[in-house]
Amino acid sequence: MIKLGVNIDHVATLRQARKGREPDPVHAAAIAELAGADGITVHLREDRRHIQDRDLLILRESVRTRLNLEMAIEEGVSRIAEEIKPDMATLVPEKREEVTTEGGLDVISNKERIKEVIGRLKKRGILVSLFIDPERKQVEKSANLKADFIEFHTGCFANAVAAQHEEELTRLHEMAELAVKLGLRVNAGHGLNYWNVAELVTMAGLEEFNIGHSIISRAVLVGLDKSVKEMKAAIREGEILLIQRNKLYEK
Ligand code: PXP
Repeated sequence: MIKLGVNIDHVATLRQARKGREPDPVHAAAIAELAGADGITVHLREDRRHIQDRDLLILRESVRTRLNLEMAIEEGVSRIAEEIKPDMATLVPEKREEVTTEGGLDVISNKERIKEVIGRLKKRGILVSLFIDPERKQVEKSANLKADFIEFHTGCFANAVAAQHEEELTRLHEMAELAVKLGLRVNAGHGLNYWNVAELVTMAGLEEFNIGHSIISRAVLVGLDKSVKEMKAAIREGEILLIQRNKLYEK
């Protein structure tokens, strides 16, 4: 069965909107695992816009399935990864200005640095995945760099419509076949949702989807009814306590 890695960055984004303590991505990870997630994925960005160092430290201790750390290839976060030892590190491109990871890592122009980071992470027993676009040259270079996995960036597929959607789908299927032929293990993620995920389950060698935004978005909506009811109950409880206290003083 294809595994599901749940990306909880979006929970941390909500917390960072107030720079407070809730919602805690550590709690979210535990709930996701209890619901059947096969892994937890977080991206420790250079600007720490969502996941914080503290989250990563606690998650390393608390995650019972597998912890997948998405990371840029810069030195600071590479050192953290070597120290924390996630089960898997997914190397991603990172630009400060971007809203999300907008494209795959160019493993050709960054080959020297990627080779060094892969070597260092593997020495620490960490599986390494490269987040790439479904392009022949990127797949071939990933195999050449001896990555364990590649994760296909499925953003173009997710955004495409009509004929272009079919083209993107075919491209993903063909590149997955090539990856398997070259000895790479295959994951996929970005922009996947409850409607488009089924179209990718027949991709050659596919082991895991990494999905965040659509799951957390849905959680907000399906959980809203319960959270409003709980708030109404909390207000009512406060009123009952007040009435009881007043009665006590009247006596
Ligand atoms: N995989 C990688 C490597 C990512 O960078 C992201 C986005 O953080 C995802 C998967 C999940 O994407 P989404 O939040 O669109 O599901």
